[in-house]
Amino acid sequence: MYNEKPIISKWIADIYDRCETDTNEIEFALSVIGPEPKRILEIACGSGRILVPFAKAGYNVTGLDFDEYMLNKIESKCNGMDNITWRKADVINDDWGSGFDVVILAGNILFNIVTDMNYKKAQELLIQKASNSLVPGGKIYIDYGYTLYPEKWFNNPNEDVIWEGADSDGNIGKMLLLGGTFDSESGIYKFIRRFKLKSANGEIIKQDIPSIKHFATLEQIHNWLDSAGFVIEQEYGDYNRNPISEKTNRAIILARKVL
Ligand SMILES: C[S@@+](CC[C@H](N)C(=O)[O-])C[C@H]1O[C@@H](n2cnc3c(N)ncnc32)[C@H](O)[C@@H]1O
Repeated sequence: MYNEKPIISKWIADIYDRCETDTNEIEFALSVIGPEPKRILEIACGSGRILVPFAKAGYNVTGLDFDEYMLNKIESKCNGMDNITWRKADVINDDWGSGFDVVILAGNILFNIVTDMNYKKAQELLIQKASNSLVPGGKIYIDYGYTLYPEKWFNNPNEDVIWEGADSDGNIGKMLLLGGTFDSESGIYKFIRRFKLKSANGEIIKQDIPSIKHFATLEQIHNWLDSAGFVIEQEYGDYNRNPISEKTNRAIILARKVL
């Protein structure tokens, strides 16, 4: 559904796995969720960056993602652990299962969800599906890139290189974001993801993918949580536990299902 050429999807999985190694958000998530809950579901678990440390911390974890290149990376990180499972699923259209103590929507998935559905509807649906898959009293953990000034983040005509490097097949390339525009009224951010690769056998591969995302406001997230039967227990604007303010850059929320 990303519409990327397979060689690009494979390159992304390798580069993501290599570049995204910051453990701050994982340690923070572990400290906020605490030791009590046992069954954890991570939505859009990718290559297991968050899922595997949670399994290593002793939780029974399940991960869902629709990208096989990403999912294929999890096995080698698990060393035969029997408390981790994952499966291929489109988290908008497919079933999540039930009986979980915690659902994790981290790694900015509330923003980065890929779907043909209206983005705002999809974001709301993620929160509703989390509620459906939790036990009574279960919790949702959201970690979302958040600013009070989205127009400053997203209105950006420049070309920014996000990732650069070679994958395990020797394909070398970069991903850039360009042409970012943000509509404050609708919260819609439009931009282009540009890929430029040189394959191991010298072929040049280029792909521009016009992309659309919806930046949900805190009020929208609060309303969706409320409608899905959640009560917010903790909310932070960064990994230092500061409240959300003009100086912070995240919305990190732990909410309990009360209905
Ligand atoms: C930025 S990665 C984050 C992975 C992981 N949560 C982490 O923080 O490292 C986003 C992931 O969302 C997955 N994804 C996006 N839309 C999805 C959908 N509709 N169904 C399943 N997975 C999806 C992508 O395949 C990708 O692995």
